[in-house]
Amino acid sequence: MARIIYVNGRYVPWGEAWVHAEDRGFQFADAIYEVCEVRHGRMIDETRHLGRLKRSLAELEIAAPMSGAALGRVLRETIRRNRVVDGSVYLQISRGVRPRDFLFSDAVAMQPTIVCLARSMSRQKNNAGAAVGIAVRSMPDIRWGRCDIKSVMLLPASLAKEAAKEIGAKEAWLVDEHGFVTEGASSNAWIIDKSGALITRQIDSSLLCGITRTTLIDLIRREGLELIERPFTIAEAKAAREAFTTSATAIVMPVVRIDDTSIGNGAPGILTTRLREEFHTMAEAAHR
Ligand code: PDD
Repeated sequence: MARIIYVNGRYVPWGEAWVHAEDRGFQFADAIYEVCEVRHGRMIDETRHLGRLKRSLAELEIAAPMSGAALGRVLRETIRRNRVVDGSVYLQISRGVRPRDFLFSDAVAMQPTIVCLARSMSRQKNNAGAAVGIAVRSMPDIRWGRCDIKSVMLLPASLAKEAAKEIGAKEAWLVDEHGFVTEGASSNAWIIDKSGALITRQIDSSLLCGITRTTLIDLIRREGLELIERPFTIAEAKAAREAFTTSATAIVMPVVRIDDTSIGNGAPGILTTRLREEFHTMAEAAHR
């Protein structure tokens, strides 16, 4: 089936989905985005994703191009036109188009560029991946100081994932200048210590406040489990009982190896697996 992409008010075939060469997203990474899970044809945690999108726009002083309700309609229509039952939907908004200039505040009001795409992903394949878990590779975090903004400035993340792939790892865990893990290249990082406490870094400008992370915290509280929000080192993670990542596309993904060290007995952890199974009992499922 031909893929349909929303570009600035039009739903067009993949091969015609063009954005202007002087779009600031292209020249300056002056754009933000969201990725939302689609499950049974419904968006998961739409309210939280649109809330974070609004925040990212505000932090960069990009004018919101339309209301949250209107964006929700674009997301839903893109899912529908691509017949996505299980997969993800991606929404990107750039500041807009103008002749290349580092400055933008003196420009005549720019029209933000909006792109939305949806992609099917096999839930069985995702679950099969989670049944064996993934390896992660640790490496220095070379990103900028505002990782709390979900910007499209993803080159360091892309390079980190390529480097991870070299050792058979699916994700990179990024380490700050003090030796603490900030997050994954495209996920949040978690460990479970010997006492069963869940540990993940507290939110600051060095990491993204993941929506999956937020909803998982709701679940952890509901289950009466212990949560500690603090930084941890790679050495601590390697000695942990369990480890996992969270993101809208991987949900709760067990980590079974960090660099060359197996975590626990080298299989997905029991608590991690339980949290993955129960995640959607906590998440919001939007109407179609
Ligand atoms: N990535 N940290 C980073 C750097 C991320 O890129 C992501 C998500 C997360 C997890 O956020 P959430 O739970 O809201 O998906 C944390 C998406 C999936 C991506 O770029 O494809």
